[in-house]
Amino acid sequence: MADIEAKWAEFENMCRNCRECGLRDGAANVVIYRGAKEAPLMIVGEAPGAEEDAAGKPFVGRSGRLLQSLIDAYGFDGSDYHICNICKCRPPENRRPEPSEIAACKRNLAMQFMLVRPKVILLCGSTAYEGFFGTKPVMKDVRGKFIEKNGYLIMTTYHPAFALRNPANKMPIYEDMGKVRAKLEELGLIEKNKGINA
Ligand code: URA
Repeated sequence: MADIEAKWAEFENMCRNCRECGLRDGAANVVIYRGAKEAPLMIVGEAPGAEEDAAGKPFVGRSGRLLQSLIDAYGFDGSDYHICNICKCRPPENRRPEPSEIAACKRNLAMQFMLVRPKVILLCGSTAYEGFFGTKPVMKDVRGKFIEKNGYLIMTTYHPAFALRNPANKMPIYEDMGKVRAKLEELGLIEKNKGINA
């Protein structure tokens, strides 16, 4: 346990001291994660927005509240998931991170995967997909399907901001979260019906 805590401290220091791209200069905080340090499910977004930058936690703004409502709807608790982003620092004006910024943050993300040791990864949106797989996705083709890579089962879904733009877009994200929950149950990584009222 002490060893894990030491590794986490080292990792968080590495992220906070990172100057591999210019984003840190304009960011108030380095946004590393929320949820459990080690978890069967890792949820990965794009980059912090204004509220995340101010709070130092990912997905705490409008998109985050929507994401959290879906997480809660499937009965997950904080020990089941780890939430983070492809980029740890807020891009100015909430623009998408540039490929060079995504590449610069890869070292941090790689270490995060090693520490969290998830089995299932939910990528939220095309930037998260691109950050993970290195190619641009056609979202309607890749979403909702598990892909196995490096021992992980990876599901891509739409970014919650997409559902904020049009509430009808919430349904596919809801369905994908349901598939993630079912997969974790199938793998014995979450108790059947835990957190779900019968
Ligand atoms: N959008 C993201 O992709 N990540 C956050 O943390 C917040 C909004």
